Parts: sequence; C-alpha cells; structure tokens
Amino acid sequence: MTAQLIDGNALARQTRERVAARVAELAAQGCQPGLAVLLVGEDPASQVYVKHKVADCEGVGMKSLLERHPADLAEDALLARIRALNADPAIHGILVQLPLPRHIDAQKVIETIDPAKDVDGFHVASAGALLIGRPGFKACTPYGCMKMLESIGYDLKGKHAVVIGRSNIVGKPMALLLLAANATVTVCHSATPDLAAMTRQADVVVAAVGKRKVLTADMVKPGAIVIDVGMNRDEQGRLCGDVDFDGVSEVAGWITPVPGGVGPMTRAMLLVNTLEAAERAAG
Ligand code: GUN
Repeated sequence: MTAQLIDGNALARQTRERVAARVAELAAQGCQPGLAVLLVGEDPASQVYVKHKVADCEGVGMKSLLERHPADLAEDALLARIRALNADPAIHGILVQLPLPRHIDAQKVIETIDPAKDVDGFHVASAGALLIGRPGFKACTPYGCMKMLESIGYDLKGKHAVVIGRSNIVGKPMALLLLAANATVTVCHSATPDLAAMTRQADVVVAAVGKRKVLTADMVKPGAIVIDVGMNRDEQGRLCGDVDFDGVSEVAGWITPVPGGVGPMTRAMLLVNTLEAAERAAG
C-alpha cells in the first residue's frame, strides 16, 4: 500500500475530547447539552446506530434521551412528540433515526423539528442555509469528511473534487461544502455515462453510493485523495466501503478505511452539532 491512511478513529477521538472539554465548561454555567434520539420500529442497523449515538453522548458528558416507539406509531403521534421536544429547554438536539416505517412521511417529520435543534442538518432550512452560505447545521457525514480533509492540511482551493452519489444526506451537501471550500466540483450518479473518465480527473474523490467497488484502482489519478462513505458487507459479511480499498490504496495518496474512517467522524460531528446547538441556546 502506498496511500497514507486518514484515521477516522483517531480524529474522532480528538474531536470528542474537544467536545467534552466544552461540555464541561457549559455544564459549569448550568447547561448540560441534551440530545433526543427517536427510533421508530426495530430496524436492526438503526438499533445499533442509536445505541452508539447515546453512548457517544454519555462519553462526552451530554445528556441523551432515547425514545423507542413501535413500528405502527401514527405519524401524528410522532409529530406531537417532536413538537414537545422542540419546546423542551433541556433538549438542544433532536434526531429521528432514518429510515422510518413507510406509513410515515420522513420529510414531514424532519420539517417538524425546530431548525435550531436540527443536529442532523436534514431540515430544508439547514439545507438551504448551506446552499446560500448562511450559518446552519451541516449534515454530519459530509461535515466529518471535510474535517478529515482539514486534518491532513489539504487546501481544496482550485482542486477538482468528484462526488459519486447525489443523496440529500451525503452527496448534495458534500458537493456544497467542497464548493464553499473553493474546489471545482463534479457530482456523478447512476446516470453518469462514463464515471471513470470523471474520477480520473479528480484530485479528491468522495464515494457515497452504498455499493461495493464503485471505485477501483484504474479510476483513480495517482496521488488523489479518496474518501469512502460507503457502509456495505462483503461476501464474508465483513464491513466494507464503496471503494476497492486494496487496489485503490496502491494508487491514491490518501485514503479513508472502512471501518475506522468516515463512520466514527459522522458520529463525532453529531456531538459537535449538539454542542453548538446547546451553546447557541445558552447564549
Ligand atoms: N440513518 C442512517 N444514517 C443516519 C443519520 O445520519 N441520521 C439519521 N437521523 N438517520 C440515519
């Protein structure tokens, strides 16, 4: 392997330490940051994710409130819970774990969260603020990817970044953050005719598709930075990303591993956003 690793675990640990120090300062002023996590149904992956989020809060001294609801919870009942949490001064961040059961309109649920508590950064107000360069919560995964680029001292100005994937949660906000950092940005997706022709031009590639081996060694410019957002399983059931790590790490200059890359940073940025929400509320 020739590429250097961007260690998401180490960076997340440093981030949590900084958050913990600021949480202690806030607590000394009488404000303990609080995150509400709402889980509807019993999706196994979601159960693991919310358990981690709650444990992360405890690790940095934040309060967490985990609400588990049955899969047949009525949409109105969920909206009522969110409105109550919007009004609760002890709660600074509200996260509704996705996916939601099909009978619930996820976008409607997200729009019900007070944008001041939208620590996922999924509300249209947060997305719109990012689009026009106003302050607002940034979606945790792309925000974490930017911190990973920052951690290696990489200046995106004038560089070409290619994002593979156009989801509202990762691809689109990722492209906007890279653009705000003065990169030239190309967004590729399932209807892009020649993906490799695009990625071969890239100084930075962010793969956020949710499919194994979307990016292989022949698609990467030597020395490029490769950020792997994917969370997939291989034939042996092992966690893997969207990038063919073994091949690409022979060509790239820097690469994020899976596991131990973007995942831990996504979790850390949720803490950063929740802290920021509490700091704003505390004035
Ligand atoms: N499901 C998978 N990832 C996420 C996330 O970042 N936030 C929420 N709310 N749900 C998710």
